[in-house]
Amino acid sequence: MPDNGHTKFLLNEDEMPRAWYNILADLPNPPAPVLHPGTHQPVTPDDLAPLFPMALILQEVSTERYIDIPEPVRDVYRQWRPSPLYRAHRLEKALDTTARIYYKYEGVSPVGSHKPNTAVAQAFYNKEAGVKKLSTETGAGQWGSALAMAGAFFGIEVEIFMVKISYQQKPYRRNLMETYGATVHASPTNLTNAGRKILSEDPESLGSLGIAISEAVEVAAMSGGTTKYSLGSVLNHVLMHQTIIGEETLMQMERAGDYPDVVIGCTGGGSNFAGLAFPFAGKKLREGLKTRIMAVEPMACPSLTKGVYAYDFGDTVGMTPLVKMHTLGHDFMPAGIHAGGLRYHGMSPLVSQLHEEGVIEARAYHQNATFQASVQFARAEGIIPAPESGHAVRAAIDEALAAKESGDSRVILFNLSGHGHFDMSAYDSYFSGKLQDYEYPAEAVAEAQKRMPQVVG
Ligand SMILES: Cc1ncc(COP(=O)(O)O)c(C=O)c1O
Repeated sequence: MPDNGHTKFLLNEDEMPRAWYNILADLPNPPAPVLHPGTHQPVTPDDLAPLFPMALILQEVSTERYIDIPEPVRDVYRQWRPSPLYRAHRLEKALDTTARIYYKYEGVSPVGSHKPNTAVAQAFYNKEAGVKKLSTETGAGQWGSALAMAGAFFGIEVEIFMVKISYQQKPYRRNLMETYGATVHASPTNLTNAGRKILSEDPESLGSLGIAISEAVEVAAMSGGTTKYSLGSVLNHVLMHQTIIGEETLMQMERAGDYPDVVIGCTGGGSNFAGLAFPFAGKKLREGLKTRIMAVEPMACPSLTKGVYAYDFGDTVGMTPLVKMHTLGHDFMPAGIHAGGLRYHGMSPLVSQLHEEGVIEARAYHQNATFQASVQFARAEGIIPAPESGHAVRAAIDEALAAKESGDSRVILFNLSGHGHFDMSAYDSYFSGKLQDYEYPAEAVAEAQKRMPQVVG
């Protein structure tokens, strides 16, 4: 029987999981190989060595089901983990639903999102490998803040290319990164070949995650080995580091005496979604459960719902290896929606494969609908969701309304991946009716597809 009285389901520090979960062990089919951008042959660990330390390259391809979390990483995690699982009693009442709604809250980390779960791990492995500096991109600024903090903990310099529109919309996020000691640039910059190329084509470019990735990768690739590159989502090892979220939630749901019928997360590159959902997806695959697992994305950047499943570059300029994923085309320029962390042309290859194989489903929303849901959530539960997380809130509320309609008592679990305290200007735009909804036309995807790399076989 579900525990109907409690609001928070908490674990103590000693109960924090000791291992990350690796879904590669449970995939029905092996993942498509990552290809060298020049030769179109599978990349070797040595090809990736200029960008990443070997420990992370090996995690990227590991098929071990569980990988131990190093003790120094657990020490840092203890600062905010285990994070709470909430039962949304007041939201359920406000919706007058027969559903039971749970949410895992990752906004309790010092920077306000799930991103430090991998930032701390990546900083640790880079430190172990003797790396002095990390370069990275950031969209909304959540990832940059997380890596800046992790760099401060492990004594690594951090240089961040922040998408220009977010740099303008969220000045306090930049201040946060600088407080941790990082250097922050508004991307595209004049500092890299990639940035100069974009600016020569469009001097007014507002930037994109794809462009910022090109700049950060270039800095690492040209550093002669002193700087490595760090990515905040998409890659297998990044998603795996996030699975501590779902591993904790499995225990907390058990404590609540419940199990989700539907697991929901918003998707930019796929990391918070995978963090919560992969441990549940693994159980679904191993035990034949019927759990629905739902990725939620913006209508303005609909990689899973409108993109093609094909080999493409991870960045805009075409410097990264080719990965098979749902993509809108590497030169796709998303509209300036406020969920900056969801403005990415591609999707994690693992999330893409699970979608292609029918293990997970996907849904897209307009931004006004997500802010409406976030405001409703905030008025019931008190927490102000990040604009990205608002997509998961929207889907959870819609599931609860569907349960009310059909009179079923489905159990809904979603990831509240971050708080929106640095995003109040977005809420301001919503309240003053200035938020525009953008729908990405299917013809534009077909057009972008023509410019994607043609991989034979
Ligand atoms: C709060 C929050 N949620 C979600 C995302 C989307 O990223 P991902 O799909 O990797 O979780 C971001 C990215 O910046 C974010 O800041």
